[in-house]
Amino acid sequence: MMCQFTIGLMLISEIFGLASADEPNYDESKVPDYTLPDPLVMNDGTKVADAETWKNKRRPEILSLFEEYMYGKVPGELEDIRFEVFSDDPEALDGKAIRRQVTAYFSDKNERPKMDILIYIPNDADKPVPAFIGLNFFGNHTIHPDPGIRLSDQWMRNSEEKGVVKNRGTEKSRGTSSSRWAVDKILERGYALATIYCGDLDPDFHDGFKNGIHPLFYKAGQTKPAPNEWGTIGAWAWGLSRALDYFETDQDIDHKRVSVMGHSRLGKTSLWAGAQDERFALVISNNSGCGGAALSRRRFGETVKRINTSFPHWFCDNFKKYNDNEDELPLDQHMLIALIAPRPVYVASAEEDLWADPRGEFLSAKRADPVYRLLGTDGMQADKMPDFERPITSIIGYHIRHGKHDVTDYDWERYMDFADKYIR
Ligand code: GCU
Repeated sequence: MMCQFTIGLMLISEIFGLASADEPNYDESKVPDYTLPDPLVMNDGTKVADAETWKNKRRPEILSLFEEYMYGKVPGELEDIRFEVFSDDPEALDGKAIRRQVTAYFSDKNERPKMDILIYIPNDADKPVPAFIGLNFFGNHTIHPDPGIRLSDQWMRNSEEKGVVKNRGTEKSRGTSSSRWAVDKILERGYALATIYCGDLDPDFHDGFKNGIHPLFYKAGQTKPAPNEWGTIGAWAWGLSRALDYFETDQDIDHKRVSVMGHSRLGKTSLWAGAQDERFALVISNNSGCGGAALSRRRFGETVKRINTSFPHWFCDNFKKYNDNEDELPLDQHMLIALIAPRPVYVASAEEDLWADPRGEFLSAKRADPVYRLLGTDGMQADKMPDFERPITSIIGYHIRHGKHDVTDYDWERYMDFADKYIR
């Protein structure tokens, strides 16, 4: 009876478009009033008026807020990481690039978890070259049809489009994500490109943190991360930093000029990686949305409750306290961008990607501006959201392009222009 009544209500609300409390809001006029925490005011109310205080006091304070309440702390360090170059072809892609593939082993055994880093290095460029690095969704072999890329044998989500059968990639998977990775263009412009399958670090489903890198860090008797310890995004970000450790040993890559880029959930990850690890010279968020660049307090499109419900493994458990409770968060995403200051950061949105709240992505970039200015940069040179395909190229960069939630050549071209300007 109860059940029929509920189904009846659902049908009525579908037919008449009645909004339920959990339906996403896409109406700007329904964005609630909110007050953002001031990145330049310490937790105890003291104002931050100089770069030293930012660097030594407020930045560490904000970083620990994100660790404690959102992405979770990395519980420690691993002693036994080994990098092994398992394939090196100096004449890949018709001679255009070196294709280097490296496995990072996270224990003294050659077992999982381990991660494969695929690297293309342009032949036609002075070494060491600057590089882009980003995680991918379906295995390194999906970013280009190049048959020399090792086919991942790691778990991945079934997908006909990506040729994934029984949760494993197949020969048909090769190159299926190539539209998102402008490999040829990147090489032509003199950048190396590196990528890692995110599932090598932690497969993207909630198994109680058994199958990724988390167990390597458990204390005796521990079976899952503590409420303030990392979830999956934290593990993914950690992997990006380990790749940077490897770059420090690779003579062909300029580890001081590495840009970290990510799309969507992996854009949330690139921001968190760049925020924690100041060795990343430049940070790019492509359509990262809720839990990435978008301000949580706007509750436009995806919300904290929604993301914590659909993806309970992404953030630390403490973040769940803020479901339907955003105003109590001691942070918001402009502070994540501020953690990247004074390094160049670029946030990109797409017109049709309302789920990710393009305006909220712009506003958090904009609201990081006072920190960037305090550190002597030009901050964000725009007062309002720009038109489509009108990139802002101040040290806080931004664009919104036409089209959907995706990574396009247009996006990559803007990232390379931005990298040319700031880290060439
Ligand atoms: C879902 C999720 C987003 C995420 C996106 C993606 O839409 O709700 O938060 O960014 O997947 O990673 O593609």
